[in-house]
Parts: sequence; C-alpha cells; structure tokens
Amino acid sequence: MNLGYWEDIDFSQKLTEQVRTMSAEALYRLTTEDLAEMRSGNILELGFGKGGGLFFLAERYPHLNFHAADAVKKNFDRVSQKLHKFPRSNVIQISNELFENINFGMQFDALVSVEALQHINDIPRFFTKLNEALRVGGTFMACAHMAKGLKQRELCLRIIPYAAQGIDVFQPIQKIQKHAKQNGFQIQIISIGRHVFHGFQKWLDALGIKDGSSSMYEAYNKNLLDYYLIKCKKLEHIKNGFIC
Ligand SMILES: C[S@@+](CC[C@H](N)C(=O)[O-])C[C@H]1O[C@@H](n2cnc3c(N)ncnc32)[C@H](O)[C@@H]1O
Repeated sequence: MNLGYWEDIDFSQKLTEQVRTMSAEALYRLTTEDLAEMRSGNILELGFGKGGGLFFLAERYPHLNFHAADAVKKNFDRVSQKLHKFPRSNVIQISNELFENINFGMQFDALVSVEALQHINDIPRFFTKLNEALRVGGTFMACAHMAKGLKQRELCLRIIPYAAQGIDVFQPIQKIQKHAKQNGFQIQIISIGRHVFHGFQKWLDALGIKDGSSSMYEAYNKNLLDYYLIKCKKLEHIKNGFIC
C-alpha cells in the first residue's frame, strides 16, 4: 500500500484500517483525476502492488480498459487470484515483469503509477520505455517520493533503511524533469508532501510501529525529499533524439 493522501482525513477519529484504505485511495484519486475526462481507452498501471488501487480504478472507470504490471511475483500471484472474483471485465491483463523489460505490442492512452517511481534507478531507460508505451497525446500520471536534489539523495540513502537496502533509490526530481523534456513530454510537478508524510506518521504512531518507516518523515522534515504529483503529457514521439 502507498503512504496515503491525508488532506481530508479527520485525525480525531480512530485511525482504523478503513481510514488507512481511504488515504491510499485518495492518493489514487488525486493522481489519476485526468482519467475522468476520458471516454474510452487503454490504461496501463505500473506497479500495482497488492492490487487495491487497480481494482479501485477499474470500479471507478468501468468504461476504461486496464492493463497492469508489477515486478514482484508474490504481488502478481495475489492479484491474479483476486482477479477471478472481480465482477468487472475491464481489467484486461496483468503481467509479472519489470516495466522496462515488457514488450507491450501496443501503445496506451495513459499510464498511471502510484508510488513506484522511487524504485526506478535508470531514469533514461525508464523514459525510453515510457515513450514507447504511450501514444502521442497520452499522459503519464504518477506520484512518488523523490529526493530534492543530488546531495539530498545521498543523505536519504544514509538515513532511510529502505534506501540503504536498495529498495528505494530516490532519484532527484530534477532528473525526472530533465528526461521527460528530452523525450518530448510536457511535464508538471506539484509538491504534496505536506498532505502525505505527516498523516502517514500519525498512522504509524497510532499503531505503535517503530520500524524504519518513520525515517521518511525525518527526511521530509530535514528537507531532503518530498512527495510529488507528476504529470507528463506526450506531445511528440522522439526516437534516438529525433522527432518521428
Ligand atoms: C510502494 S508499492 C505501491 C503499490 C501500489 N501502486 C499502491 O499504491 O498501493 C510499489 C510497487 O511498484 C512495483 N514496481 C517498482 N518498480 C517497478 C518496475 N520497474 N516495474 C514494475 N513494477 C515495479 C513494486 O513491485 C511494488 O509492488
């Protein structure tokens, strides 16, 4: 599950599992709000995790077709099982591969990704693949926690256990911006950290969780990382540095 978007959550209530799910869905809603304007289309979710967000989107947008990929086999097996019981037929296909390695054989009208970009190390390779997977005019809608710069990234790698283990790599947000532009995308980045980290920390406190998860709040408070909404619109198709 993602860290959640907590802006509209009332913290005077008991922070139940249901409230936690609401925060995770709120992050999906915010990140993918442009899907509401689409009358039809094929959407790819990159990094479906336990599948809660994928099913949430498929319910919310029954007229859109969803495809999804996740690199972790356990997630794939779990979501495959849930898929048999899911009443809608608009989840077309899920795959168990690294996004960067998939041969889609088609182009998508939109790509969505909630809290997976912090895992991507090779940003140039990622954007080459994104360019291949998205049709001209399509949008990549994402959110993730990323470092505020190169120096800040180094410090994140030191203080956040997930980063020290290589699970999160927290590439600087500027790198996303640079490669999006080089690949012909118009990019918009919005900081939403103030509605993410504080709420997530409250949830950890309510449950008495004292693992390394709190280090993200520490990094945010030290101005090392932020949580970003990222929207990339593909204006033209660029291959090997040329507009095609
Ligand atoms: C923090 S989880 C978020 C899951 C889900 N989107 C959510 O918000 O609940 C990130 C997920 O992205 C997947 N992931 C990360 N990098 C990936 C890549 N390059 N290709 C495919 N899946 C990836 C991970 O396996 C993990 O399940």
